[in-house]
Amino acid sequence: MDRWSYVSLLLTIFFFPQLLLQSNASPEYIRQPPRPVILTPHHRSESDPQQVHISLVGKDHVRVSWVTSEKHVSSVVEYGKRAGRYDASAKGEHTSYHYFFYSSGEIHQVKIGPLEPSTTYYYRCGGSGPEFSFRTPPSTLPIEFAVVGDLGQTEWTASTLEHVAAKDYDVLLLPGDLSYADTQQPLWDSFGRLVEPYASRRPWMVTEGNHETETFPIIYPSGFKAYNARWPMPYEESGSQSNLYYSFDVAGTHVVMLGSYTDFDARSDQYKWLEADLAKVDRRKTPWLIVLLHAPWYNSNLAHKGEGESMRKAMEKMLRKARVDVVFAGHVHAYERFTRVYDNKADPCGPVHVTIGDGGNREGLALMFEEPSPSISLYREPSFGHGQLKILNNTHAHWSWHRNNDSNSVMADEVWLESLSSSKKCMEIAVEPSPSLTDEL
Ligand SMILES: [Fe+2]
Repeated sequence: MDRWSYVSLLLTIFFFPQLLLQSNASPEYIRQPPRPVILTPHHRSESDPQQVHISLVGKDHVRVSWVTSEKHVSSVVEYGKRAGRYDASAKGEHTSYHYFFYSSGEIHQVKIGPLEPSTTYYYRCGGSGPEFSFRTPPSTLPIEFAVVGDLGQTEWTASTLEHVAAKDYDVLLLPGDLSYADTQQPLWDSFGRLVEPYASRRPWMVTEGNHETETFPIIYPSGFKAYNARWPMPYEESGSQSNLYYSFDVAGTHVVMLGSYTDFDARSDQYKWLEADLAKVDRRKTPWLIVLLHAPWYNSNLAHKGEGESMRKAMEKMLRKARVDVVFAGHVHAYERFTRVYDNKADPCGPVHVTIGDGGNREGLALMFEEPSPSISLYREPSFGHGQLKILNNTHAHWSWHRNNDSNSVMADEVWLESLSSSKKCMEIAVEPSPSLTDEL
């Protein structure tokens, strides 16, 4: 083979699959490559709050988390319903951690409330520094969730966050892989500063991904040191023993956050906790039941194929029995929506599975899907983006996926969902799906 034939063969091998992939997407859209990591510097004083973010705790409280470089700042939050007028305050606690030669700043956690629903509160952390504000979620439906996984801190992340914020959502749900610090602890601080303008304004509820583990043999065998210190979630309030899995109720929705990177077999604490948690769900109070986890149980992308399989085998039956409406996963850097499924088959009483691991991380997109597409996979596309789940009432919700396009966010997929709690047949039938069920419903 002469030199030019060899070069043209290489070019064909490299470009042909990409041309094929692009031809499957919408004709007007050209898929974008990864973009560089953004390092977000610290501009405030040593005692001022940085990396401010909030999360829901119980029915009417919010946890405010922030970091100060200065060690002797009070863990106090002053707050009120008018800008600059703080008629309430609450004290909390602070901690710090070491990871090899890195020492974190002081990490403050303060629970504030009781708070009124659908209300804007203004607040200040540590008695000085800038004022922040957030809006509490509604106490009843409708509610709007933003869903974004595998966020990272690149220029794509910034673009995704701008698009998410333009939607005026109530609560953000993140199915794992936050900072992509991967043991480089200053990147946790940089990530906290990047997301602060968004995470200080709306509750962010997260669960862990593989990039949060940061284990190291002998020295840090159990991992999650930075994640647990910086992103505490309301696990105690939901009877969980671990920050790696928990649940909460918000406006007619019970949200279960599972841990793909802790034990999940039938003897595990997580399994027993999930069994007890699902048994307590009252669909008259929370007609919607959604689950988030990191490694998808259903995935037709070639990336991370089968990685969620052992967890699926351990827990899928429980989720079907509880009539979970939707399972959101991350990990695979692409978008994929399945029909209602159970045990690898379409099942009208199983959850819809959605992979939404396309927040904008530095590793880029997972471009290759298996061919032909399995019949249970209804839409799949490797593009950066985010999802929106608008739960309108007890029976109907609208799910949409918004692909990032340079300055706009383009809705590329949407579907109306009916809650399984409104399906008489699904609420009545036994755990095991009958062969005739699909025909019946
Ligand atoms: Fe991941």
